This record gives sequence, structure tokens and C-alpha cells, in this order.
Amino acid sequence: MLFSLLLVAAAGMGAAGVPAAPRAQAAAATAPLDRVVPAPASVRPGGDPYTLTDRTGIRIPGGSAEARRIAGYLAGVLRPSTGYALPVTTRDGDGIVLRLGGRGTAGLGAEGYRLSSGSRAVTISAARPAGLFHGVQTLRQLLPTAVERRTEQAGPWRVAGGTIADTPRYAHRGAMLDVSRHFFTVAQVKRYIDELAMYKVNRLHLHLSDDQGWRIALKSWPRLATYGGSTQVGGGPGGYYTKDDYRAIVRYAADRYLTVVPEIDMPGHTNAALASYAELNCNGQAPPLYTGTSVGFSSLCVPKKVTYDFIDDVIREIAALTPGRYLHIGGDEAHSTSHDDYVAFMDKVQPVVAKYGKTVIGWHQLTGAHPAKDAVAQYWGYDKTGAAERAQVADAARNGTRLILSPADRAYLDMKYDKNTPLGLSWAGYVDVRRSYDWDPGSYLQGAPADSVLGVEAPLWTETLKTSAHLEYMAFPRLPGIAELGWSPAGTHDWGAYKERLAAQGPRWDALGIDYYHSPEVPWPAR
Ligand code: ACM
Repeated sequence: MLFSLLLVAAAGMGAAGVPAAPRAQAAAATAPLDRVVPAPASVRPGGDPYTLTDRTGIRIPGGSAEARRIAGYLAGVLRPSTGYALPVTTRDGDGIVLRLGGRGTAGLGAEGYRLSSGSRAVTISAARPAGLFHGVQTLRQLLPTAVERRTEQAGPWRVAGGTIADTPRYAHRGAMLDVSRHFFTVAQVKRYIDELAMYKVNRLHLHLSDDQGWRIALKSWPRLATYGGSTQVGGGPGGYYTKDDYRAIVRYAADRYLTVVPEIDMPGHTNAALASYAELNCNGQAPPLYTGTSVGFSSLCVPKKVTYDFIDDVIREIAALTPGRYLHIGGDEAHSTSHDDYVAFMDKVQPVVAKYGKTVIGWHQLTGAHPAKDAVAQYWGYDKTGAAERAQVADAARNGTRLILSPADRAYLDMKYDKNTPLGLSWAGYVDVRRSYDWDPGSYLQGAPADSVLGVEAPLWTETLKTSAHLEYMAFPRLPGIAELGWSPAGTHDWGAYKERLAAQGPRWDALGIDYYHSPEVPWPAR
């Protein structure tokens, strides 16, 4: 501690040996090249740093539309805080260079990038636009934290010298947002997308329906949204996305290289639908809307034909709004559906997803039915999940079902950090920052082959969460840890080193107005 204080003091001396102003002192420290979350696959520091100046341009040699858009995004981050013009140009030269395709990029795959920094340029190269975008996120983290502020700040704006070569461990690095228990507006969802993009998350799973609310307007069954979306937990006004709203979310996510995975939960978690249309109920009577937080009391009527007319319409309309490959059909906590009915239901519904060109994701209870050949099961068990249930999921994985891992006592962002956390739930126990980070997706589920794991996902259920500040308090600082498990090679896994890199994110969140939980496990810099 004393040693680091001395270092800071030394760094704060101006050229004439007089102490610099505190802000310049803080900004003057150049972040080491490996101080990035998620940890890059390979980091070779060395050579001179690059310094942004008022003459720096952002160059996109070749100049594809996507490279231009990514350059515009980067300029949008850098211009307000640096005060520099940072013109985007297709001419090659010094500066910030975003290079798409070309020599040596093929091995970087769909999402990888290389970042080289030296005295004349910082160059990000990638085979595909997503890689360029992820490289831009790394560049943000290598600049002083004040770069995230929206008003002009003092420089210097240095990037440490060296080379990073980086590709992800897993194809699926997801975050789920429950917009049913409490409704979140398009603007709130966009804000969360921006936060996810910083950590190279590439899937946004939207939990669009549950007992408390149906959140997407469909032409075929309009009351789902207008009535079924008219409330939420605690009895607030709820809300729903029009198709244009939803398209705007999908586009905003896609511009940040996240694919939206829509979830319509069934056959349980369906009270909002059952309340909207009496004919969907086995007894023909619509239950009242529900604003509590119990689970497991609702079920679509498995024997009725109208149930499958309904599902066909819903899946057709949702699939048409979905450029991504996956459609999530829920399938969890169907406690009011008999086992035989559950199996029969899933046998009928999965082919409908395929008919509309999509691949099924279901919560891991789907492995108790007959998962479709290419289905993906999302594991959300925890330490009390029985051996038989775990074995059932592992068996399915050995038989070709791929897995997304969201263990509730690790990856659920709505679990309280400890007994004093004012928000969240604790049915899977308390999940502190180390617990949420310190596990290996590759060996987590005993008996499941490592290559059955498609990736990881951090769900954020919102029974107790009503505002963006609430979401952020639960997601930060745990979300970046799940993102790192999804991105970084297993060889980089080390809590001691991770918590230092994580600590360095705190001032960034302060600059961005993200009110994170100041976990005592993390050595945050003094504010
Ligand atoms: C779940 O938490 N019911 C998937």
C-alpha cells in the first residue's frame, strides 16, 4: 500500500518537479496492457505507448459500412471526454486504425481481434466486425478512466505499448433480463445493452413473458400485451413493447454485436396469457392478473387444440422479429403440469420452433422431456440440486444437447451478495463476487463433456428490481466475472489477479454513473 502510494506520488510530479493537479495526476497513469476485463487470451507489453492528441484521426482503411459504424461508436465514446475532433477517414496512416480483414486476421475468427499499440498508432485488426467492436472495448479500458466521462477532461490520453491477441473461449456469453416481473423501457434495456457490450457479452436473453406480465405486442393475440402486460409485481402499470419498440432493441443490440434471444416461457409461468384469454384455460375461465412473486401455479392447457394454435401464432410472430438463431421456450417450474403432459407438450412445441426456422433453448427441465436434436438446455441448478437432476442434464449433454451454464448460486445476478444486500433474493444462497467468478464452466457439471458447453449466461430476475440503478447494483461487479468466464481462456483464471483488474473498473463505472456494489472483497481504488 505504501509502495503504491509512493508510485502514485512519483507519477504525479510534473516535468519541473512540482506536483501536478490531482485530476492530471490520476489521468497520467497509463493502464498496463493486461488490465482488461475479460482477460485477453494473450498480452505482450512492450515499446512506446500511443498518445491521443488533437491531431489524432480514426482510420478505417478500406472503409466498409460496418467499420465506419464502429469508428463512429468509438468516436462517440472518445470525443466528449478528450474534446478532440477525431475525424473518421478511410486514408491509411498513423492514429487509431480499425482494420477489417486482410493479412493475418483469418485466425481471429468471428469475434477475435488483435490490438497493437506503439508511438505512431494503435491498430485494431479483426476478420469480422464483431472482433473489431470487441477490440474497441479493450481500447476503452486501456485509456484513462476519465475517458468515460461525458464532459471534457484533462489528458494525457495514453495507451500502453505492446500487442494483445484475443479470441473468446465460448460462443455464447449471455445476459438475461426479466422484463416481465417488472417492465423495463426500451431506453432502460438499451442502457443495459451498452453495459453488457463493454464486457464482450454477445447474447441478450429477454424473458418476455411470465405470470406477472406479457411484454410483447402480437397481432394474432392482442390482449396478451394490452391486458396481460398491464401490470407487474406489486401492481404497478407494467407495460409492453410494440413490435417497433422490440425491433429497436434488436437493432440496438445488433449494432453492439449482441444477438437477442427472446423467451416465451411455457407451459408454466403463463398466468398473464391465461388471464388474457379464457379459452386457453382448461376450465374456460380466465384467472385474475397476478402481481405477487409465487411460482409454479399456472399452466397452459396441454390437451386443448387451441393451445397449439396459440403457440403456433406466438412462435411465428416472435420468430419473424428474431434475426438470431435461437428461440427460448422456458419450460422451468411447470409444477402445475403433470410430467406426462409436460413431455407431450414439449414434443408438440419444439417442432413448431423448428418449423419457423429457429433452434430451441429451454431451461434444463427440458432434458426431462425429449430435447430436440439441436436443442440447447440452460442449466440453472445450484448446490442443492439433486444428483438425479444433474445426472439427467449430463446424460442429455452426452447425447448431444448443448448447455448454457447459469448455475443459480454462481451466475444469478439477482441473488443477494450477503445478508445485508437490500435488493434481490436468496433462495440459492448468498452469491458474493468471488463465488460468482470462481468456477470453471468447462468442468462444472460432472459428467457433461466439456465440448457440450456452448457458454455461460448471467440471468437477472426482477421480482425486487424496478429501476436501472437496481439492475446495476446487482449486475456490478458480478456481471463482468461471468463475462470473463465466457470469454477468457481457463489458463487466465485467478481470483487474486482478477480482483485487481476488477477493482480498476470501479472508477469507470463511477464515470459512467453506474452505482455498483462496493464489495469489500475487491480492492477498489480510493474514490
Ligand atoms: C428459473 O430460475 N426459474 C429458471
